Order: sequence, then C-alpha cells, then structure tokens
Amino acid sequence: MTLEEYISYHSSPENDVLDAITRDTHVHVLNPHMLSGHVQGRVLSMMSHMIRPKRILELGTFTGYSALCLAEGLAEGGKLVTIEHNDELEETIRRNFARSPLGERIELRIGDAKEVISNLGFQISNFDLVFMDADKREYCAYLELVYPLVPVGGFILADNTLWDGHVIDPAYDKDKQTLGLRAFNDQLKEDDRFEQVILPLRDGLTIIRKVK
Ligand SMILES: C[S@@+](CC[C@H](N)C(=O)[O-])C[C@H]1O[C@@H](n2cnc3c(N)ncnc32)[C@H](O)[C@@H]1O
Repeated sequence: MTLEEYISYHSSPENDVLDAITRDTHVHVLNPHMLSGHVQGRVLSMMSHMIRPKRILELGTFTGYSALCLAEGLAEGGKLVTIEHNDELEETIRRNFARSPLGERIELRIGDAKEVISNLGFQISNFDLVFMDADKREYCAYLELVYPLVPVGGFILADNTLWDGHVIDPAYDKDKQTLGLRAFNDQLKEDDRFEQVILPLRDGLTIIRKVK
C-alpha cells in the first residue's frame, strides 16, 4: 500500500454521487485527472464545513465534482456559483448536479471566468469562500477580480499552485501556466492584503485569508 492509498483509505469515503461522477468522468470526459478526486474533495468539504459560507464562488467547474464537495458545507440557505467556459461540458455538469439534492443550491454560469466575475452584479457580490481552479495563467487577474467580492476574514482557495513541482523547475521557465502560477505565488508572498499557506496536497492547494 502506498502512503497515498493509506491516506485515502483512512479518510471518510466520498458519497455515491461523487463516486459515480468520478467513474463517468474517467470514461466519458477528456483529461479526467483535472477532477479534484477523493482526498482533495474531502478537504474542500471539510474546509467548507469549517467556514460555513453563505456564498461560494468557484472558477472552473469541469464535471462538477469540487462544486458538490464545497456545497456540502454551505450554511442554511447558502448558495454556490460556479463558472465554466467549456460549453461542451454544460450538459454533463447539469446532469451531475441533478444527481444530488445539493445541485439545487448550485448556479452554473457558462462563460469565461474573468468576464462572468466582472458581470456578477452587486446582489451576489459577497462570497465568503472562493475556489480558484480555472486558467492557471490568469490566477493573478482572478485574485484582483475576486478581491472586492470577498469580505475581510473571507477565504480564497487556489488549486494547482505547485503545478507538479514545475514552479521550482527551471525546465519550465518558458511554460505559460508555470509562469502564471509562479507570478501568483510570488504576488501573494508580497501582498499584505492576504495571509496564505500552501498545502502540499495533491498538486498544491493554497489557503488564502483576506486580512485587509
Ligand atoms: C482543473 S479543471 C476544474 C476541476 C474541478 N474544479 C474539480 O475539482 O473537479 C479546470 C476547469 O476550468 C475550466 N476553465 C479553463 N479556463 C477557463 C476560463 N477562462 N474560464 C472559465 N473556466 C475555465 C476548464 O475548462 C476546466 O473545466
């Protein structure tokens, strides 16, 4: 047994809906590795339970796995908005949300994350939790766009911030996604509006707290 298998075995299992989404995604969708997966999904659910957010914003829905994990911790009457630009995934996402009672509390917006965030409107501009998981080249831009939407004390989670170790590998000095993630990590290091810690979970998950 590997340590990864040991961690998975000793963590609470994913529910039947999430298990089915994982299997269907691996059979029917390109790049199934993009799905958060069991252990990261349980971490997202646990963090959401700890925060008990009224509103969650997710950038990068893919097949809906992480949205359903995050929605588990929503406060009563709470809602999650998730943005996906690949309209070929829309039918799959809607079908996956319909498999769970939590799906009713999730609003899917199809479009480019930057454009959709800019047009979210004031009435839903108060997200106590944001999960960033869309275009890695745009993380710095996403941070600026979501900053006014998050109250002081609110949280932003950013996925893939270690990018398979490429952030410290000179062989990836010209790779645009690596450069985007390095710029994001470097900006956070210098930015006193936030406190942050990078968890070496899966591909790197940064927990960010807005402090001013
Ligand atoms: C890593 S996957 C998301 C995985 C999902 N959050 C999960 O954990 O199951 C990234 C998703 O972001 C979407 N995406 C990429 N660029 C985007 C953009 N500019 N706007 C919105 N979505 C984008 C991709 O199509 C893909 O479905």
